[in-house]
Amino acid sequence: MQSYPQYSNKQKWIHWSSALLIVIVTLLLLAKVTMSNILGGMPIVYLLHKSLGVVVLLLMIWRIIVIRDQGVPDVLLKEQKLQRILSKSTQGFIYILLLIVPLSGYLMSGRDLNVFGLISVPAIAMPNSIHQMFHSMHLITAYALAILVIIHILGALYHYFWLKDKVLQSMLSRND
Ligand code: HEM
Repeated sequence: MQSYPQYSNKQKWIHWSSALLIVIVTLLLLAKVTMSNILGGMPIVYLLHKSLGVVVLLLMIWRIIVIRDQGVPDVLLKEQKLQRILSKSTQGFIYILLLIVPLSGYLMSGRDLNVFGLISVPAIAMPNSIHQMFHSMHLITAYALAILVIIHILGALYHYFWLKDKVLQSMLSRND
């Protein structure tokens, strides 16, 4: 039995699979020339970037439903006011960006969205200037997300190595 608050197994699964996918989706385009050589062409790099980005969006929607049903454990002490504010606001912005980044990726293109070659989501017709606006939004929010994820990781490591509390374990250990 764990003596510290724990996220549910479902919440851990959503958290770690989203984390892995965000890294893959970002690296696919940041190292697109290398990835294209490995995967066999630029079209497959973009297909994977977009399709896995859609999976990240679906995981985020599922996360919202799970939080609504199960809530979230209170892993920080009530006295840790500043840490609670910093941690909750970073997490809140990450959640908002996990909706905005994939949605703006979809809306910036005038072409249908092909998901894993299996599903085609029709494009939404709009003036070119609006597509351009979503294009800029996608790039800016994607880099903002990357920065917040790095801050989030540093925060978790600070708890583990410096404060030596159980915040990281609340998202790591297996629930029986
Ligand atoms: C969590 C999901 C996503 C993340 C973290 C993400 C991240 C990024 C990043 C960092 C870039 C810039 C790469 C560079 O500077 O070369 C980018 C570009 C791009 N993304 Fe995403 N993206 C996501 C989802 C999507 C989705 C769902 C789509 C389309 C449906 C999409 C379509 C694109 C396209 C077409 C580009 C290239 C834009 C250009 O080169 O001008 N992305 N994305």
